[in-house]
Amino acid sequence: MSKFTAANVPEHVAIIMDGNGRWANSRGLPRTMGHRKGVEAVREAVRTAGEIGIRYLTLFAFSSENWRRPEAEVSDLMGLLKAFIRRDLAELHTQNVRVRVIGDRKNLRGDVLPLLLEAEDTTRGNTGVTLVIAFNYGSRDEMTRAMQSLALDVAQGRLAPEQITSETISSRMDTAGIPDPDLILRTSGEERLSNFLLWQAAYAELIFVSELWPDFTREVFLAALEKYGRRERRFGGLSQPQTLAVGS
Ligand code: IPE
Ligand code: IPE
Ligand code: MG
Repeated sequence: MSKFTAANVPEHVAIIMDGNGRWANSRGLPRTMGHRKGVEAVREAVRTAGEIGIRYLTLFAFSSENWRRPEAEVSDLMGLLKAFIRRDLAELHTQNVRVRVIGDRKNLRGDVLPLLLEAEDTTRGNTGVTLVIAFNYGSRDEMTRAMQSLALDVAQGRLAPEQITSETISSRMDTAGIPDPDLILRTSGEERLSNFLLWQAAYAELIFVSELWPDFTREVFLAALEKYGRRERRFGGLSQPQTLAVGS
């Protein structure tokens, strides 16, 4: 832990938690067992983020495309989210974790939305890690909703088109007020973003690890953070003052 200084700890880490199904399949277990084991990895990741001083941890829990999965698996994932909030909310609150939820809040089933709102309300005043749960989240869906809200303001005369800036757009995203991720991490060896934080990822460092999500331990997290710490982020500029060689 001492290896991490304020200078190289990312402020915001976003994780695509992938590989629960493969974890279960490789053990001859039903996929649902992989999702269950995945919840334990979530707990460990939140604790580790708190220890290290990460301010925002975003976890991709259910995508707007995951509705394409068989109904039984969709129900299982909804059930797990509900169980997680019911069981862990008090503990998260004790850990001073603030919960925020991104994703489309429409079309969520039954008691999912009230639980998400309860988690946000209960922890609103907390000052530790902000745990951003991406649920029913898809970047293109988020951007579409943001564009519609801007278009409505323009159509009704509240906003002039030239007033639309990159900041205005960011402020209409579900992530309004949350800094862009410094690091996007994906488990399971897949190397794609799968419609996750496309707007916000503009200058994120990307790290792909081979471990399946249920095997994402504190050690794997720390190793990825060390790798991040060695990256040089330039944001289009230069790393240090350089001399521009003029033709000789
Ligand atoms: C990640 O694991 C969890 C969710 C997408 C909800 P997967 O369920 O995608 O597991 P694999 O990719 O099939 O192994
Ligand atoms: C991305 O994983 C979504 C979540 C982790 C919630 P998927 O397993 O759904 O992504 P694809 O289908 O392999 O791209
Ligand atoms: Mg997957």
